[in-house]
Amino acid sequence: MAIATHHEHPLTSSAEQAEGSVALGFFVAIGLAAVSFIAGTPHSAASDGPLASVSQPTASSPRTVAGGSGAIATAAPEASRAGLDVLRKGGNAYDAMVAASFVVSVVRPQSTGLGGGGFVVYYDAGSGVSGAIDGREMAPSGASKSMYVEDGKVIEGYRVGPLSAGVPGLVKMLDHLYKTKGSGRISWNDLVQPARELAEFGCVVRKPLARAIKKYSKKLARYPASRKVFMPRGKPLKEGDRLIQTDLAHTLQTIAAEGADGFYGGWVADEIAKSNTAAGGVIRSMDLASYQVKDRKTIEGTYRGFKVISMPPPSSGGVHLVEMLNMLSHHDLAGMGWHSTRHLHLLAESMRRAFADRAEYMADADFVDVPVSKLIDPAYGKNLSDDVDMEHATPSDDVKPGTLLVKEREHTTHISVIDADGNAVASTQTINTALGSLFVAGASGVLLNNEMNDFTADPSAPNAFGLTQSSKNLPEPKKRPLSSMTPTILLNPDGTVRGVFGSPGGPKIITTVLQTIVNVVDFGMSAGEAVAARRVHHQWKADVLRIEDGVPYGKQLASMGHHVETLGKDRGLGNAQIILVRSDGARVAASDPRGTGRPGAYTRAKTLGAPEREH
Ligand code: DON
Repeated sequence: MAIATHHEHPLTSSAEQAEGSVALGFFVAIGLAAVSFIAGTPHSAASDGPLASVSQPTASSPRTVAGGSGAIATAAPEASRAGLDVLRKGGNAYDAMVAASFVVSVVRPQSTGLGGGGFVVYYDAGSGVSGAIDGREMAPSGASKSMYVEDGKVIEGYRVGPLSAGVPGLVKMLDHLYKTKGSGRISWNDLVQPARELAEFGCVVRKPLARAIKKYSKKLARYPASRKVFMPRGKPLKEGDRLIQTDLAHTLQTIAAEGADGFYGGWVADEIAKSNTAAGGVIRSMDLASYQVKDRKTIEGTYRGFKVISMPPPSSGGVHLVEMLNMLSHHDLAGMGWHSTRHLHLLAESMRRAFADRAEYMADADFVDVPVSKLIDPAYGKNLSDDVDMEHATPSDDVKPGTLLVKEREHTTHISVIDADGNAVASTQTINTALGSLFVAGASGVLLNNEMNDFTADPSAPNAFGLTQSSKNLPEPKKRPLSSMTPTILLNPDGTVRGVFGSPGGPKIITTVLQTIVNVVDFGMSAGEAVAARRVHHQWKADVLRIEDGVPYGKQLASMGHHVETLGKDRGLGNAQIILVRSDGARVAASDPRGTGRPGAYTRAKTLGAPEREH
């Protein structure tokens, strides 16, 4: 069978070995889907059985699945299913990305949505060309550098409410992806319908969404359309309830019929603008009409012979990922041992230095000078690496100024897809913090982002992620807020795809993607192991090395000067969704056991020599 998982890596902890059986249970379920499809079992075997029949994920169970043809990893089972259905019907990775993105927007409104934005990094197997698409939110034309400061204080509108929203980019990004890279074999309408149906007929409220609604219920209650969606009977929806989004279904139907024009013009745009400005926001119809998706040149680097392809500004993700990998490349991590004191020390010191640069240099490069090539220059990485004292932590004050970190994990989402032809696509999408601005834009049913919080309000005031950022990143009309999203593709030395990576987590996105890649490249971990492995995070300020529960670090780190904080069992770093391509060609997709995602994969019949079936 062209499907397998491996959990036998020597570095796998006994806890992870135990988790292997859970993973295997799931893998068998998905594997059967593929095989039964191959064997000609009716479509429903894959549509209704496997993903639904899996037992509820536990906080520590890795989820891995492999197929010979295509694979997808997302943070929601419904989204993986929609994407997998598209692949099996002959759509390519880009088509699958579109369908999965719309679905995840509906079922994880705490993470992403039509009212948000995102980035795509892709690799076309046929041409060998890679590229990036920027669907990041844009500041409305009414934005200004001082818009979030009154009487010397940062106002609440920087964090929540109608004024915290940027002009959404997601729908146009998906429309662009479909038009420029779609296979043409699946209609746009067919890609939107699964999401519309879930909006109209409802989907189950899982724990992370229930938690977010409860946490923000008082603020959600300020806005009638938000109340209607998240507190339909006057009380916050709870885990196990159904989330029904009738207005959003109407908007999705308009998008299905008219494409992105149905969102950026016509009644939907009018409704978003009217409701937003009436409630104190500044998004006008013309801001929506003038929103542009941008094709961008990817950030590229090399790590131990692998080519790293990632997202350029307005994300800081690709730049700092490559910067950190450049530093780490001067050390024999494998020889040190996984999560040895020296390995953890080097991770922390690389993160500290990269985040100090983020605070100083990064912003939308269409507006300000960003020294991208200097930051990703291997020679600069060597200088930074030489600066690391292998016996002592460098106090962050000796590197540069900043602040605190908040608990964020459930918000923002990543999708990785690879198809039978080897096309790979990574997309991280967000409405920023949980439930974004908390403001549903009237009858459009669209929950707007609070991405303006990723701008600097005041260079001395940290944003929701405790990130202090420079005046380069102040809001300006049509500028895009600085991001940490890091959709990334790794190519083998021969140019074929080795892996597709990404995660949510604010600043922890960059460090999660870094560690996942290091786990694969330096420590030979499988996909399931690489995402499940415990992680650490340092973002320069505060000068704290956060370590997930279960990392067996000793007293040495503290004696070297690291300020270590062990996170509680319920606090994971990131929610990675990755796919690795094994040397036998199998695509192994893994969803982070920290989240509620499920991956999917399939094997085309002809791979096994049987007649191929298409639906
Ligand atoms: O673009 C960014 O960097 C943030 N808006 C991402 C937010 C996020 O990942 C929230 N996470 N859990």
